[in-house]
Amino acid sequence: MTKVLITGGSGRLGRSVVAGFAAAGHSVVSVDRDALPAGPAFASVAQETVDLLDAGAVGAAMRRHAPDAVIHLAAIAVPFSAPEDVILKTNTMLAFNVINAATEAGVGRIVTASSPTVLGYGNPRGWLPEGFPLDERTTPKPWNAYALSKLVAEQVMRMFATAHGDAIRYAAFRPCYVISPEEWEGAPTQQGHTLAQRLADPALSAPALFNYVDARDVADFLAVLLERMDTIENAQTFFVGAADALAVEPLAKLMPEFLPGCGELAAGLTGASPAFSIAKAQRVLGWTPQRSWRTELVDTNRADFVAADSQ
Ligand SMILES: NC(=O)c1ccc[n+]([C@@H]2O[C@H](COP(=O)([O-])OP(=O)(O)OC[C@H]3O[C@@H](n4cnc5c(N)ncnc54)[C@H](O)[C@@H]3O)[C@@H](O)[C@H]2O)c1
Repeated sequence: MTKVLITGGSGRLGRSVVAGFAAAGHSVVSVDRDALPAGPAFASVAQETVDLLDAGAVGAAMRRHAPDAVIHLAAIAVPFSAPEDVILKTNTMLAFNVINAATEAGVGRIVTASSPTVLGYGNPRGWLPEGFPLDERTTPKPWNAYALSKLVAEQVMRMFATAHGDAIRYAAFRPCYVISPEEWEGAPTQQGHTLAQRLADPALSAPALFNYVDARDVADFLAVLLERMDTIENAQTFFVGAADALAVEPLAKLMPEFLPGCGELAAGLTGASPAFSIAKAQRVLGWTPQRSWRTELVDTNRADFVAADSQ
């Protein structure tokens, strides 16, 4: 059994990560400003209410719990949901405070959440990658404070690895658009639309390049990552996504409609291929997502988009 401290455990992604580690029999501490919802999935979970901007409080929580591993998820998770300076300061300081406190407390494995948005898609001035599928070698070109804050969080992680060497294992991961379990049943996704609406209207998923991942698959990824971190190269970053795109039609057709100039680049995204490659996580860690909208979307919601799609 591993003792895992998870920041942001009350969030959209955090709840599934906390529940996944607790169900696997690990000792879990959730550290968040907000409380976890009541429910059997969280019965064995310890909770701490901490403002992670308070470095002293983060250090004290880390020493009190002395976890084997830390997974840092807490952040302002939506671009432009707060003033740009607030997003940059908050997310970079949270990453620094948590990774610093975990390092000082001698935690052996430290993982921080980044985001695919570091790549810079959605830039109103235009954006094209070197090629598709996008992967960990694609050049990041952040154009807003959220994307920049996540790139800085990755650099903070690498800075600590540079300073401390391989005695402590660090990693970052870039989860695609997170779908929590209730969203398959019709609850609104992070941007407010249901999954059926996103599938019926490709314009809704185009800003994220049709990426998505089931939160439980992210939890599984993190469990595998913690298991393997001691044996892989230190301080790596991984994309974590579904194995298909959140779209009914192939991206080779859809992408040129929403990303001007990408026709040739996207031509290989045939069938259900996603724009973001998860080949590195599959190759280095042996992790593969188990869930897809094709298997998870409950039938009543599916009827909505099938009807809309055929209009
Ligand atoms: N949801 C997505 O689609 C998505 C995609 C890519 C990356 N991410 C990243 O994954 C992580 C989790 O995202 P999410 O969707 O669960 O976000 P969320 O907003 O649902 O949850 C974030 C949690 O962090 C907590 N938090 C924020 N500031 C805090 C502070 N100062 N002190 C203590 N707790 C604080 C909040 O209370 C909340 O519970 C974030 O780092 C986000 O940037 C999310």
